[in-house]
Amino acid sequence: MVKLSEDMVKSLENEIVFLATSSKDGIPNISAMRAVKVLDAEKGIVLIADNYMNKTLKNILKNPNVALTTANCKDVPYQYKGKAEYYTEGEYLKIAEEVDKALKPELKPKGAVVIKITEIYNLKSGPDAGKLIAKDE
Ligand SMILES: Cc1cc2nc3c(=O)[nH]c(=O)nc-3n(C[C@H](O)[C@H](O)[C@H](O)COP(=O)(O)O)c2cc1C
Repeated sequence: MVKLSEDMVKSLENEIVFLATSSKDGIPNISAMRAVKVLDAEKGIVLIADNYMNKTLKNILKNPNVALTTANCKDVPYQYKGKAEYYTEGEYLKIAEEVDKALKPELKPKGAVVIKITEIYNLKSGPDAGKLIAKDE
């Protein structure tokens, strides 16, 4: 199980998160996300509210593999990889609504992207750059 440290949770929830996806043909895409909540730090589960996703969502529905990093990666230098699922109802949509409301009361999500982080790599430059830190068994 990939566990997120306190620093990682703070960074994912309070900084801009860059979300990389890829089409089924391997065309990459990157977007910026702010409506982010860590649902379970012990299990590495992260929710992002879909407010404006376009290519991001198309990609996720065809190819669940995603990568993330955060705008403060100079201080919290991690590359997260995982698998995304998409929900348009139920508990996850409710949580996305709460996340949006806390950011901007007029925001309303179309859905919720729930990511299970399966690998974490070191993003810091130097001898350990790119090294695997944690991986799901
Ligand atoms: C600072 C910032 C924060 C953003 N936060 C979100 C967000 O939380 N959820 C969302 O759906 N879109 C958010 N967006 C919009 C996406 O980054 C992007 O414009 C949208 O997904 C469409 O691009 P795509 O076609 O690559 O998916 C944000 C944009 C910026 C610049």
